[in-house]
Amino acid sequence: MSYVIQAKNVSRDFNVGESVVNALKSASLDVERGKLTILKGRSGSGKTTFINILGALDEPTSGEVFFTSRDGSKTDIVKLSNEKRDRLRRINMAFVFQSVALISTMTAYENVELALRLAKYPINKRKARALECLAAVGLKDRVSHFPHQLSGGEQQRVAIARAISHEPEIILADEPTAELDSASARIVVDMFKNLAHNQGISILMTTHDTAMMSVADKIYTLSDGKLISQE
Ligand SMILES: Nc1ncnc2c1ncn2[C@@H]1O[C@H](COP(=O)(O)OP(=O)(O)OP(=O)(O)O)[C@@H](O)[C@H]1O
Ligand SMILES: [Mg+2]
Repeated sequence: MSYVIQAKNVSRDFNVGESVVNALKSASLDVERGKLTILKGRSGSGKTTFINILGALDEPTSGEVFFTSRDGSKTDIVKLSNEKRDRLRRINMAFVFQSVALISTMTAYENVELALRLAKYPINKRKARALECLAAVGLKDRVSHFPHQLSGGEQQRVAIARAISHEPEIILADEPTAELDSASARIVVDMFKNLAHNQGISILMTTHDTAMMSVADKIYTLSDGKLISQE
């Protein structure tokens, strides 16, 4: 099996005044390439703490996080220099969050195009790529809409189009469906599964919504900072 992320015995302690919160306790997890992996658990169980470490947005107190690129090169992202870690995050990863941060004065198309510009995507291919990504999330006829002219689910799909635009290897999504109704949430999760299986983009998402579980290829459950099961 081919893994894009392998986390080994990852712990994260937060110092709060005199006390220490052990938010993550020696957690190990693998994200298989081209699969939809779900990290679930109650509020406060450590999901955001863990996904932020896996996405190199935060550093663990101890443990290792390996990232294996499509070309087969494997690195421990904890040991990378800040510069290399930024680069890995910018080029190989993409993030989708609970609240959709689209630029309100830009259309759906312009939001995606901006991401391509920031990723230094070849200038002559940006337009086609932006339209292709919006079509991939089913928004072909919404490209000229501004965020306030789109439903919450459609806005999240623009955020997904933006996330996939620079052809990342993995999307890390922290509660991407939390603000959506159940029908829109299902569309987003089905879309993730489709991206994973048909475009080989690995997906790791957190959720506490048990209705999502049937779609996952693999489910890890966190409880009080510990991984208690995988199925
Ligand atoms: N920066 C921080 N400083 C101190 N404690 C923190 C910090 N971040 C998180 N924690 C604590 O770590 C634990 C795990 O928090 P985390 O945000 O990872 O949970 P979560 O599973 O994402 O919850 P939710 O479903 O509510 O988003 C909580 O007890 C939280 O209070
Ligand atoms: Mg969280």
